[in-house]
Amino acid sequence: TTTLKNRHFLKLLDFTPEEIQQLITLALALKDDKKAGLERPCLRGKNIALIFEKTSTRTRCAFEVAAFDQGAHVTYLGPGGSQIGHKESMKDTARVLGRMYDGIEYRGFAQKIVEELAEFSGVPVWNGLTDEFHPTQILADLMTMLEHSPGKKLSQISFAYLGDARNNMGNSLMVGAAKMGMDIRLVAPKSFWPEETLVAVCRDIARTTGARILLTEHVEEGVQGVDFLYTDVWVSMGEAKTAWAERISLMTPYQVNAAVLNATGNPDVKFMHCLPAFHNEETTLGKELEIAYGMKGLEVTDDVFESPHSIVFDEAENRMHTIKAVMVATLGDD
Ligand code: CP
Ligand code: NVA
Repeated sequence: TTTLKNRHFLKLLDFTPEEIQQLITLALALKDDKKAGLERPCLRGKNIALIFEKTSTRTRCAFEVAAFDQGAHVTYLGPGGSQIGHKESMKDTARVLGRMYDGIEYRGFAQKIVEELAEFSGVPVWNGLTDEFHPTQILADLMTMLEHSPGKKLSQISFAYLGDARNNMGNSLMVGAAKMGMDIRLVAPKSFWPEETLVAVCRDIARTTGARILLTEHVEEGVQGVDFLYTDVWVSMGEAKTAWAERISLMTPYQVNAAVLNATGNPDVKFMHCLPAFHNEETTLGKELEIAYGMKGLEVTDDVFESPHSIVFDEAENRMHTIKAVMVATLGDD
């Protein structure tokens, strides 16, 4: 194992397959230790800043609980709660926070903002989601897939991602699968396939790792025989609400429902989602969408979400263990 001490965690493209596996292995060990009451704090005396320019439940709570478990202190800077962006540039913010904090998490818009924060802060910076990438989510997803595939390595696992394959989740799952030699199918309308330059980068990586990357518009072809089905919201944070109408008409054929589970031909297929999910109308936005478009579930139906196939809450729990692994590996005592 190599040391990841003082490294940033901005995107999976910056890490080797061995380093990614190392973080997942550490997360599995930290999870076991916590459950056995044997956790050893490695972040005592560390101060961590959590910058959120977009809202969050899982990512914020995962960073806070992980930091607390490991003996660190956190400061939460919410959307609108600081000078960031409105009165002070990211470059200046980076140099201020770098004087006070030992590590910084950033969730926000362009990837180049988190890259700039990393360049100028002088301390490890962790990407808690940008428009382009969501790397800590992928660590949790891969860990969850391993836990639900006893005896298998990641390179023996296949999955299909349906829906918006051009967003942070589509991009990062493709990178993660390419790095780890997996069989990934991106099943989406052609206009929602990842950018060609990123696909080319991933195909290059796949040549050395043995990964298989299929981009298809055809659901039946894409989901055939997969171990996991994955989806995400059709409109992401930061996108205009007016996008819903077009997305719903384009993406409805890619909804994960009982027929899609059936089309995998795998009776043990598992369902995954980074969450939050529109699987019913029990939220304010869900209600508005039901009224406007007459759909009670969007990217996934409620019956699939609530079925025994669904492992979404294992996945959510693993956000905490994997984020803890990232902080321990990059900032922890030796
Ligand atoms: N999956 C995820 O990142 O969730 P939050 O937006 O709640 O952090
Ligand atoms: N694509 C979603 C992921 C949320 C975790 C978004 O960016 O809103």
